[in-house]
Amino acid sequence: MADKNYAFETRAIHAGADSSNAEHALNPPIFMTSSFTFDNIEAAEAVMSFKSNDYVYTRGNNPTLRLFENRIASLENGTGAVAFASGMAAISNVLFSLLKPGDELLLHRTLYGSSYSFISSLLKNYGISLRLADFTNLKELEKYFGPNTKAMFFETPSNPNMDIIDIKKLTELAKARNVKTVADNTFASPFFQRPLDFGTDIVVHSATKYLCGHGDVLAGVAVARDEDYLNKLKFGYMCEFGGVLSPFNAWLVLRGMKTLPLRMKQHEENAMAVANFLDKHKNIARVMYPGLENFKGHEVARKQMSGYGAIISFELKGSLHDAKKLLNKCRLFKLAVSLGDCESLIQLPAAMTHRAYDRESLKAFGLSESMIRLSVGLENKNDILAELEGMLG
Ligand SMILES: Cc1ncc(COP(=O)(O)O)c(C=O)c1O
Repeated sequence: MADKNYAFETRAIHAGADSSNAEHALNPPIFMTSSFTFDNIEAAEAVMSFKSNDYVYTRGNNPTLRLFENRIASLENGTGAVAFASGMAAISNVLFSLLKPGDELLLHRTLYGSSYSFISSLLKNYGISLRLADFTNLKELEKYFGPNTKAMFFETPSNPNMDIIDIKKLTELAKARNVKTVADNTFASPFFQRPLDFGTDIVVHSATKYLCGHGDVLAGVAVARDEDYLNKLKFGYMCEFGGVLSPFNAWLVLRGMKTLPLRMKQHEENAMAVANFLDKHKNIARVMYPGLENFKGHEVARKQMSGYGAIISFELKGSLHDAKKLLNKCRLFKLAVSLGDCESLIQLPAAMTHRAYDRESLKAFGLSESMIRLSVGLENKNDILAELEGMLG
């Protein structure tokens, strides 16, 4: 299939499909096998020495995983991808692949809690230092580059406060200094934003979220354009650390990705209605959603995204106690971590997903203990609004 000639929606269903499907199954088989056999030792040697692209062992490759990797590479406009057992496996492997002792990682100040603790606690043990900066302030950012800065990592929109980072301008700054950029594109999904098009070197995803879309899988992936780098990441890191994705989970994500465009459109329509509702509500102090014109990152988001996604964070006019009381009132919404599922999920980041940030850091990074994060689901918009009305009074 000449993938490039087809639109995103078509590629979400067909890209990367192998025409050698001998049984002509409409849907790809799940290759639940650890090993692959060879007709003779010459064939084995050809694969082991990378002269052939056949399969050896699922920790190195597997047809179901390869299909998932090719499909997501097509949707992100990359040349290839490496699948991982989770988003954190993708992030940790990518950062290990770019950094060595003595190097410094430049990091946007808000990001997913486990990414923050991996970088601030674990990477440090390997002699890799971390410098936090506000990537939304590009003028100031120049000052943060040092002689040992080797990579930059950010999410846009960021988790949980929806900071929007100008990807093109940021990667220009990085490239001028020979610094690699890694963007976590989980919140936007490739349907709304493709960071590689703006110059980012590597895109990572928690495929657990929108790519899968049904809350029944853990999966991760890294996408890039540099084939040498992709080979290094796959065989030098994923394969050696061993955080390989299960073929069954790859198959479930492939199934979810077929409806990614439809789901994202509906998620966003519901989220826009929720953001407008919250923005006008008397008990709400602040709404963080890039689709709102009064939101700080709106103009940059409009430039680099084709839609604003469906994660909304907000602050009540009230205390932490009031925020907790509100969460205990939900009936339709589920009180849970994670996001991007069909179900609307609500949570308190400071107490749940972002517990790794100590109280001081929360304040310094513009987060508060009472901020609530809502992943707007695919339920009927009116039921979602009625739930909020019931909770907020
Ligand atoms: C933005 C972001 N990146 C990465 C992750 C980690 O993904 P996983 O839970 O699949 O390891 C998460 C999880 O919530 C996330 O929100």
